[in-house]
Amino acid sequence: MPPDHQPVLYQEIIHALRPKSGGRYIDGTLGAGGHASGILAASQPDGQLLGLDVDPQAIELARRNLAPFGERAHINRSSYTTMATQMATLGWNAVDGILLDLGASSMQFDSPQRGFSYLAEGPLDMRFDPSKPLTADEIVNLWTEAELAELIYRFGEERAARRIARAIVRARPVKGTRELAAIVSKASPRHGSHPPATQTFQALRIAVNSELEAVETTLPQAAKALDRHGRMAVITFHSLEDRLVKEYYRRESRDCICPPEQPVCTCGHHAILKEITRRPIRPTDREIEQNSRARSAKLRVAEKL
Ligand SMILES: C[S@@+](CC[C@H](N)C(=O)[O-])C[C@H]1O[C@@H](n2cnc3c(N)ncnc32)[C@H](O)[C@@H]1O
Repeated sequence: MPPDHQPVLYQEIIHALRPKSGGRYIDGTLGAGGHASGILAASQPDGQLLGLDVDPQAIELARRNLAPFGERAHINRSSYTTMATQMATLGWNAVDGILLDLGASSMQFDSPQRGFSYLAEGPLDMRFDPSKPLTADEIVNLWTEAELAELIYRFGEERAARRIARAIVRARPVKGTRELAAIVSKASPRHGSHPPATQTFQALRIAVNSELEAVETTLPQAAKALDRHGRMAVITFHSLEDRLVKEYYRRESRDCICPPEQPVCTCGHHAILKEITRRPIRPTDREIEQNSRARSAKLRVAEKL
């Protein structure tokens, strides 16, 4: 691993997934391969890992970092939404553990030309997958004021969404990340724990990458892919994603999902998961001190029944 790369909740992930020799694992968000190398090391001598990422730079770095594991690491530039197909290609029917470490990587945040950070000047891009057509630029400069306001409100949970949308539309064309951050700060001058642009940038990133849809469609696929007693571990960085994971685990660990006022069950639903973490696991103060990006991380783990 590069010395500056610190996978979030690393020990907690290894502890949750309990990698074992002969096991099969999927890391759907490979990044630089930090968690993946931990899983491969802990599943010696013959555990295998399928690692996916949509970002070609991440794939290149992960290939280098996971080279010592040779053919035990199967690396593909693909979305985790395709994990079932990817497994089938390897001839795998089931896996023992799945990791999703959602959101952008340090490498992406620290590359100004990717446009993820308002701290550096860069283009309004924000694509995890640079081959996809939709960029933040298109949303910021072409969407209607009402569409922008709705997006910033829903995906940024930003109360000043309308004011921010109006200011953006008036300032068009908006050329880069710093200019956008300045417009947002001026339209929403508040003193919270985050700089004002955080939520608008989050909203744009979620929309550009269809992040919530991706998580929503992948959770059932992941649960289906797990072998008996296999575990899935999901690290989220904001409440919208965390809610999706929490609600999915809750629903799939219940035998009946009929409304509580209904006296007799008619849903025919059966639990397929057991929640291992009733409350999410959070990074320690020490980890947050060493890596401030870990501060909003939440890990939820479930086990296949
Ligand atoms: C927080 S980073 C993961 C870091 C990684 N756990 C490590 O140890 O280096 C998240 C990664 O997920 C990738 N990603 C985002 N959406 C994806 C998707 N739909 N399919 C696959 N990878 C995705 C991003 O490109 C990014 O590299």
